[in-house]
Amino acid sequence: MNAKKLCLALGVFLLPLHAGAAAGEEVNVYSHRQPFLVQPLFDVFTEQTGVKVNTVFARKGLVERLKREGANSPADVILTVDISRLAESAEAGVTQAVRSRKLRRNIPRAYRDPRRHWFGLTTRGRIIAASKERVQPGEITRYEDLALPKWRGRVCTRSGKHIYMVALTASITAHHGRDGARQWLAGLKNNLARKPQGNDRAQVKAIRDGVCDVAVINTYYMGKMLSDPRQVSWAESVFMIFPNQDGRGVHVNVSGMAMTRSAPNRANALRLMEFLSGAVAQQIYAEQNHEYPVKKSTPLSGLVSSWGEFKSDELALARIAELRGEASKLADEVGYDN
Ligand SMILES: [Fe+2]
Repeated sequence: MNAKKLCLALGVFLLPLHAGAAAGEEVNVYSHRQPFLVQPLFDVFTEQTGVKVNTVFARKGLVERLKREGANSPADVILTVDISRLAESAEAGVTQAVRSRKLRRNIPRAYRDPRRHWFGLTTRGRIIAASKERVQPGEITRYEDLALPKWRGRVCTRSGKHIYMVALTASITAHHGRDGARQWLAGLKNNLARKPQGNDRAQVKAIRDGVCDVAVINTYYMGKMLSDPRQVSWAESVFMIFPNQDGRGVHVNVSGMAMTRSAPNRANALRLMEFLSGAVAQQIYAEQNHEYPVKKSTPLSGLVSSWGEFKSDELALARIAELRGEASKLADEVGYDN
């Protein structure tokens, strides 16, 4: 197997780090986020600072790789999505605390680790998509409604064990307690039109196909579907509902970053992290994937701003991280995926 095939087999998109500028003039990034999202940012960073960014892209397994490499790892910064992956990295002992006034200023408290190991960069709302044909505006307004008997046989979701669903269940647990969350999840399961399957976009396709009437998805998938000619009709069959606007607000999750424990280029790693939280990078980063910048007052993309303003749940993501194990257990307890 040649190097390229090996990388593909491992889910690595590009060849690993190559020798670059002299030490101190580079920074090494391990990224679960795809090249098209982050490369434009790195290009601007290098232009502004002269610091070269070397990147390893992989779909999964970067924390395992960091553990394997230990103190010898060349990685300085990791980029990933979802609070569970960020928390996982910190719990695995492969990250270090970062003190930075800039990061504190740019990133709202709810979206960063109180122990300073991880920092959110973009947010995404977990929203309800509803059939334009079969659901009236105002008919469903809260996550709690998804469990009401009215929606029996009309809901589609992905696996209850997927990190996006686990985070939502964790948020329900934070607000309604364990018993409340169990009841909610059991009610939601009862309302499913089919066994949980597929990704978020597959749920919208199922609405287009008449399999179900409402689904739970992340906001940016609406943008992704609209920019894929084969999926435009999926997106156009639904309208977006930002839940719980009369109460706590929409459950949001993040993409984010952390500095590795062994970072050989610590100063440049900090420069890159601060740059990513700053105005220029925030705008580019959020636009690339139809997400929301964490830094307040950063302009939104045209499409994302057309979705309108909404209230977000201010619950700290650190709390979601704490409850994620319990939430995942609840999915087993109610047999969500069976
Ligand atoms: Fe996603």
